[in-house]
Amino acid sequence: RLHRCPYYTRRVTIPDSALHAAAQTYGTPLYVYDAAELDAALARVRAAFGSAQVYYAMKANPNLSLLRRLHASGVGFECVSAGELARAAHAGAGGEQVLVNGPAKTALEYAEGGRLGATFILDREEEVGLLPPASRALVRVNPALKVSTHDHLATGAASSKFGVTLDQAPRVLQALRDAGHEALGLHVHIGSAIRDAGDFTAAFARLSALRPHTGQLAVLDAGGGWSLDADLHGIARAAHEAAAAFGAQLWVEPGRYLVAGAGTLLTRVVGTKVTGRPFALVDAGMTELLRPMLYGAQHPVRPLWSRPGTGPWDLAGPACESGDLLARGVPLPAPQPGDLLAIDEAGAYGAAMSSTYLTRPRPAEVLYEAGAWTVIRGRETPQDIWRLEESLA
Ligand code: LLP
Repeated sequence: RLHRCPYYTRRVTIPDSALHAAAQTYGTPLYVYDAAELDAALARVRAAFGSAQVYYAMKANPNLSLLRRLHASGVGFECVSAGELARAAHAGAGGEQVLVNGPAKTALEYAEGGRLGATFILDREEEVGLLPPASRALVRVNPALKVSTHDHLATGAASSKFGVTLDQAPRVLQALRDAGHEALGLHVHIGSAIRDAGDFTAAFARLSALRPHTGQLAVLDAGGGWSLDADLHGIARAAHEAAAAFGAQLWVEPGRYLVAGAGTLLTRVVGTKVTGRPFALVDAGMTELLRPMLYGAQHPVRPLWSRPGTGPWDLAGPACESGDLLARGVPLPAPQPGDLLAIDEAGAYGAAMSSTYLTRPRPAEVLYEAGAWTVIRGRETPQDIWRLEESLA
């Protein structure tokens, strides 16, 4: 009954009755998160990666309540903008708990990272001269590999904009030392939603081959990029081996893996129409969940009702764009207005990439813990959206 997702395992433990209650109380579209699954995902990462230091890539879901929860569990943050640095600080993180990453850092980001005492990830040699004095830094290496994921999600290919080449890396480490910085080690992140552990093994092997040219290093940061169904233990084994080759401590930066499975987008059927195809029109679309349109991502869709007459329906959102389709050919039992659908594996890059296009206020976000709901982001209003336009008048 799940839509084209043969490897899907439902992780959210929230009972359907609680989903119905949340939709009733808070309205739809609504992002719901399962605290139990958030904790379980972190526990799976710790079980696989053991002593590695975990830095959550907050781009996946920067909600402050989730950040505070992870911070309380000893997780640091990988940040790629001044805004994310501000969130990290606001959630109580600082110093060695914060990484500053990004291919085009601004003066503000160097300054804020310096103020927080964060560790910088260098993406090009010129950054050596831009860092605050006596910074701690890693050098991001592009292993120049073909990675088995969507083109937009592959960052470790030779043609991608990220990192320095394998050849350049030892020289950049030395340039850091010469400039009075602490050259902690190397960083690699080959892409996102990667299912094949072999991609990671190949990337880590390319880095290990640099050992004769770099000497011992304090840290190897193996990035993130694990799909929900990736072989974590296989990836962890390869990462630990690579770290050991440098005598280094292992760091990792999961985003999706920590939050995707815990999040569900709830949306209601507005109506149906059968024209060229059978459409179930719902109250969420590209403004709430962009991944199907941007990457062809297939999110599992669960109808939360039963009725005789199941058939395939295209799930279309309310936007005036024909690309506003959440899924095609989803088996639904004779949808009627008001029926509730759960779109799973939406905890990562869902709310985070939602937009206010069409002056559609972003959805509320609620957390389910011990049988009760807490609002962790209120529903936006049209006034919230145009506030800065009016204050200029
Ligand atoms: N570290 C670095 C340097 C990254 O660039 C990223 C993600 C991560 C860690 C976390 O990767 P993850 O574990 O979440 O795969 N919007 C896309 C995903 C973009 C990922 C960008 N970088 C999507 O919706 O699939």
